[in-house]
Amino acid sequence: MTNAATVLDESSPPLRTRPLAPLGALELRPLSIGQVPIGFPVVQAALSGYSDWPMRIVARRLGAPYTVAEVLIDQFVLDLKGRSRTKHYLHTTAEEAPVGGQLMGSDPSAFGPAALKLVAAGFNVIDINFGCPVKTAVSGCRGGYLLGQPEAALKIVSRVREAVPEQIPVTLKMRRGIDDSHESREHFFRILDGAFSNGIAAITVHGRTVKQKYVGPSDWDFLREVKQHAGSKTILGSGDLFTAQACLEMLSYTGVDGVSVARGAIGNPWIFEQARALAAGLPLPHPNVAEQRRVLEMHYALCQECSDPHRTLTTMRTFGIKFARLHPQEIEVRNQFATTRTLDEWRGVLGRWY
Ligand SMILES: Cc1cc2nc3c(=O)[nH]c(=O)nc-3n(C[C@H](O)[C@H](O)[C@H](O)COP(=O)(O)O)c2cc1C
Repeated sequence: MTNAATVLDESSPPLRTRPLAPLGALELRPLSIGQVPIGFPVVQAALSGYSDWPMRIVARRLGAPYTVAEVLIDQFVLDLKGRSRTKHYLHTTAEEAPVGGQLMGSDPSAFGPAALKLVAAGFNVIDINFGCPVKTAVSGCRGGYLLGQPEAALKIVSRVREAVPEQIPVTLKMRRGIDDSHESREHFFRILDGAFSNGIAAITVHGRTVKQKYVGPSDWDFLREVKQHAGSKTILGSGDLFTAQACLEMLSYTGVDGVSVARGAIGNPWIFEQARALAAGLPLPHPNVAEQRRVLEMHYALCQECSDPHRTLTTMRTFGIKFARLHPQEIEVRNQFATTRTLDEWRGVLGRWY
């Protein structure tokens, strides 16, 4: 791992059976993160290996009011020299504002300067990752590991809050603990309360433990408890948001201020406008093949703007495979995207199937 937490188990979404409040009764409150107004409370999560500038712009153009870049390791950010191979990591544009940049690390003294570098690059919010369950993160005393180390975690929080200008909100991403133990739960709430006392503007909670990784459901009852505990402080919920319906159900069931869509947005950037439609009582828009092609073309063009042809191909191959899920000939399209070796071949698949 050089910069980011690599991909985890992306197994299929679990089914939910809990009783839900009728969505008709749901009144959505506009979301703010500190002084940054977000508006519609369904945002796009940080997604390592995915939420680069093209994915974030596509999501923004299709209705996401806020997106977060993939996690970067503090020291990696400090070492970035603007070389062509790595400059995309810090690429932001005015169109995507507000956008969050996310950091992970173990050394409190590296976090502040790295956060400042993200601010200088144009990120409007700094998010600190205390959730990554990947082995290399945990063994490197980063990400989810810090959920078991409240003092170290809060030191990082205060260093970052002190380092970045007051108008830039600092936020946290946490899992619900290291594991299901009482101690882990205590640590979670110590970090949550301490972070808010230190001026953290919002906390996104993924309702799985670090040990759990992606096995089993995200605990929405825990999210509800966290929101009740946090009172007027801003909480976003994460976990198992695969449909627009699920986004509104999480808002309704847990009372969180916003929800952060992760796997559900990979290959389905329409989830944001679907959630907006559902919230407005309108029919759910479903992208036909022509619309899917329009957005794939857009994603491709954005990729070409900020990446070399090799990176454009690897990125668009990955996204082609994910977008294929919405195509009526899913299996054939997925297999064809998966085997493209040149940009011409990739465009050929688009021309043939879309
Ligand atoms: C491929 C992948 C990459 C992820 N990368 C990040 C990341 O960089 N930063 C982060 O805070 N969370 C990351 N997450 C966690 C998600 O933001 C989210 O909390 C988690 O997937 C639960 O939501 P879901 O069940 O709706 O996917 C990642 C998850 C996946 C599947």
